[in-house]
Amino acid sequence: MPADDTFTVTPYTVDGTVDYETLLDQFGAARLTPEQKARFPGGSHPLVRRDVFYAERDLDPFLDAALDGEQHSVVTGRGPSGPMHIGHIVPFYFARYLQDETGALVYIPISDDEKYFAKEQSLAEISEHTRANLRDILAVGFDPERTRIVVDTADADVVYPLAAAFAGEVTQATVDATYGDPENIGLSFYPAVQATHLLLPQLVDGPHPTLVPVAVDQDPHVRVCRDIAAKQRYDVDKPGALLSKFLPGLDGPGKMSSSDDAPSIRLSDDRETVADKIHTHAYSGGRTSVDEHREKGGNPAEDVAYLLLYCFFEPDDDRVERLAAQYRDGSLLSGQLKERAATQVGAFLEAHQERRGALGPLEEELPAYRLTEAERATARSRVGHPGDGLPRH
Ligand code: TRP
Repeated sequence: MPADDTFTVTPYTVDGTVDYETLLDQFGAARLTPEQKARFPGGSHPLVRRDVFYAERDLDPFLDAALDGEQHSVVTGRGPSGPMHIGHIVPFYFARYLQDETGALVYIPISDDEKYFAKEQSLAEISEHTRANLRDILAVGFDPERTRIVVDTADADVVYPLAAAFAGEVTQATVDATYGDPENIGLSFYPAVQATHLLLPQLVDGPHPTLVPVAVDQDPHVRVCRDIAAKQRYDVDKPGALLSKFLPGLDGPGKMSSSDDAPSIRLSDDRETVADKIHTHAYSGGRTSVDEHREKGGNPAEDVAYLLLYCFFEPDDDRVERLAAQYRDGSLLSGQLKERAATQVGAFLEAHQERRGALGPLEEELPAYRLTEAERATARSRVGHPGDGLPRH
């Protein structure tokens, strides 16, 4: 078998050419059906229609609750290992759409501990990234009344007792089989922390459908968490998941990563930088000459500029179809397509940066999004942690 046919996807390694269908068999998740796609609030969402979110676990109970006005929540988080790029922010804008449409509660955990275990960075560096990433997440524009942000090390009074309870439910053999041998005991323990994130809305507010919209590499965490919930030692339902493909990196249709050779497009890039990165680095799989392109046409499925527009940055279905058709028949050139992608991505980032610039200092903005004392106490009491009831200081 050629090396190309093998690939690895875990939260800590994405390697080789990912076959998204094979992965579903490996992971045991289900493809989204046309019926499910049609049920998304507000007449669907481009990320769902265009198959970026392509698979699910227990999506239907979430959609039922969301459409019937019953309690439902969304959890999507961030590992603060560096500046955020456009691929990182997509699930947050998706969560915002659900909040706007159906009033979903949105929980946003920040796994600073995880990134300390997984990356060679000091705690001080990670804490700088945490602060910068939080500004980007706040710039998405969540409703503070319906949004909770939790930072693992800063909210340890609630995260630790819950993670300790859940860690007792997971064997080392399960962790090894799910993630490969973890590099250190921090990463062995971390699945219990992410399980805490995914169960937190239910531990605060009682059992209800939860959806975790994430890139498919995070599914192992979802599985471990669902196994914990399935033991029914705690009064929680298994969280559901909505799994996405990776946004393409500039150097080809694979995953955009901060550590690729080609640069990633950062949320802080201005229009000129975006245009420069796309024109210099975006892979087009294109023809060698304009004449050849005009004659034979291009392949949008391989063209990163097109894929960026398709995946997220051109929400208008007619327009994106037209671009694909013109590129295929050769009338639209690769340079023109790049131009278009640079304009759309640049405009999106400008709006994002404007909202980020309008924020006050983090110390003033963040408190509205933190768990209240009552919420913390409720969550702790639901795992019956022995430390509860003691004075805190
Ligand atoms: N583990 C995720 C990452 O490395 C970040 C994360 C933490 C997360 N908690 C989460 C993502 C909960 C989704 C849901 O990027």
